Amino acid sequence: MEMGNTLAFLVFPYIALALFTAGHAYRYVTDRYGWNAKSSEFLEKENLFFGVTMFHWGVLLTLAGHAGGLLIPQRLFDAAGIDAAAHTAIAFYSGLAVGHAAFIGAVLLLFRRIFFRRIRRTTTLNDVVTLLALIFVSGVGVFNVLFGHYDLLYTVAPWIRGIVTFAPDPMLMRDVPVSYKIHILSAFALLAFSPFSRLVHIWSAPVGYFFRGWILFRRKVAE
Ligand code: HEM
Repeated sequence: MEMGNTLAFLVFPYIALALFTAGHAYRYVTDRYGWNAKSSEFLEKENLFFGVTMFHWGVLLTLAGHAGGLLIPQRLFDAAGIDAAAHTAIAFYSGLAVGHAAFIGAVLLLFRRIFFRRIRRTTTLNDVVTLLALIFVSGVGVFNVLFGHYDLLYTVAPWIRGIVTFAPDPMLMRDVPVSYKIHILSAFALLAFSPFSRLVHIWSAPVGYFFRGWILFRRKVAE
């Protein structure tokens, strides 16, 4: 039990993070032309819009919520006047909305990949695995929000802070319910897989686009 817990919540997360880091470096060096979102908008637009918009808003806000809610210690929330009960309530209602958006959006994207011939023909096994993994991780996350009702502020949250500050304490995870453990372990597995998928596009968000100067196009008038 102790050994399994240590392997799952100490060894495995660091293996996943090492693969995540080295995998991105390797992919960047060896496959720079393949480093993109592989847009399929030019093949099919109407059904893409709803799924891709819902999914991206959902997943980006979910990631922001995870970072803010888990990485910031409760004592700082307390200092800001947000006690544990209020923190949990905010996490519950926001998680319910954005988690569902990510999950339903990902299901719609998978349906589109399966049921539209033009999209199916350009879909690889890697694309399907990526979407299935996103559906699984977000699905179990939504399940936990709906049915878990577990107080993770003093267990999962300090554990993940220990992982990112290189002071891990796997014992914090020992009595966490199994559905939370599955969510966490599958999310780390997805992190390890992501450099080898189209998910690399996350790191190339076109932020510069919003700040760049206008590009002027002038018609050349024949004299
Ligand atoms: C950093 C901000 C992000 C930007 C700017 C972005 C942009 C894009 C774009 C342009 C596409 C192609 C859509 C098309 O077919 O035209 C795409 C697809 C996709 N993105 Fe993102 N993305 C971001 C973050 C994320 C995140 C955080 C995830 C998941 C963790 C994600 C997962 C996906 C997936 C799975 C697809 C493929 C959808 C499909 O065609 O089946 N993206 N993204």
